[in-house]
Amino acid sequence: MEASSSSKFLLSDFASGSPFIPSKYIRPVGDRPELDGVENSGEGAIPVIDLSGLNGPHRHKVVTEIGMACKNAGFFKVKKHGIPKEVLHRMLHASKAFFHLPESARLKNYSDDPTKSTRLSTSFNIATEKLSSWRDYLRLHCHPIEAFINEWPSQPPSFKQAAADYASHVRCLTLLLLSAISESLSMKSGYLERALGRHAQHMAINYYPKCPQPDLTYGLPGHKDPNVITILMQDGVSGLQVMRDGKWVSVEAKAGELVVNVGDQLQVLSNGRYKSVLHRAVVNKDLERLSVPTFYCPGPETVVEAAEELVDKEHPRLYKKFTYEDYTDKFWKGGLRMESCLDLFRESE
Ligand code: OGA
Ligand code: NI
Repeated sequence: MEASSSSKFLLSDFASGSPFIPSKYIRPVGDRPELDGVENSGEGAIPVIDLSGLNGPHRHKVVTEIGMACKNAGFFKVKKHGIPKEVLHRMLHASKAFFHLPESARLKNYSDDPTKSTRLSTSFNIATEKLSSWRDYLRLHCHPIEAFINEWPSQPPSFKQAAADYASHVRCLTLLLLSAISESLSMKSGYLERALGRHAQHMAINYYPKCPQPDLTYGLPGHKDPNVITILMQDGVSGLQVMRDGKWVSVEAKAGELVVNVGDQLQVLSNGRYKSVLHRAVVNKDLERLSVPTFYCPGPETVVEAAEELVDKEHPRLYKKFTYEDYTDKFWKGGLRMESCLDLFRESE
């Protein structure tokens, strides 16, 4: 028997109760998470970088660590990142409260249109996809905050302030990381900040309800992030898995730590020195999970291309220039998939 989804927009509103997931969530054999075979990263596979040294005499050492992580893993965790615990906590708390609102209050924000700057939706892009993912999500544009805060959910009452405080702290952290990453490429510290043109910052709040059959489906299937860098906050429940040396490795969700990953635009802006890496989210039977990625992006009109200094005989230019809007358009239409959209923009040999 299938859970009925006919009259419901959001997974949260039809997921509970049935011991079986609806057929549109069932991945074909060969495209399932195979959870038993996944290694736990523990402390090893994903480096943990203490950022407190960035503002002192050891800056160069930390910059080198960040550069190595972007090159080798595409992912790292940061601690002592400067965002107060209480700002993280209030954001998680308000986000959870949002997803626990009654259906009618949540649905005020519902839309299937990926171009809307504030919207609640489900799966990835239900207009184009054949199979669904076990996720509801709220997406918010967050920079500049004043341009968007009026659109954000007005319930729960704590939401707007918690999200505004979190977004402005994450922006500061991101600018700090962009300057360190620029230096790690032997560029001036303002390279990436300038290359993004008019900056954009988008936040998603991913809500993964408990799932009765987590072996058959994904919270999010394997994908690479289209933006420049992503900063991910998690609620303490694990579920993120990262591709490392051809194997999926699960990343432990530890309170206070944030996960940073290289997105496709940083792969372009570094001319392939840094890699946007496959990752996915799996779900589980016992616990709901919440994660809050911040996607830091160029403005839609920004032309993205690697600086001349990063192009030489050994490193020929890898990608044709494109506007970020061209890129995201292809990303949303293509659906989440294991191949990156970047292949569409490769320079011919
Ligand atoms: C994403 C993503 C991972 C997670 O939203 O792009 O990769 O753990 N999320 O929710
Ligand atoms: Ni992602």
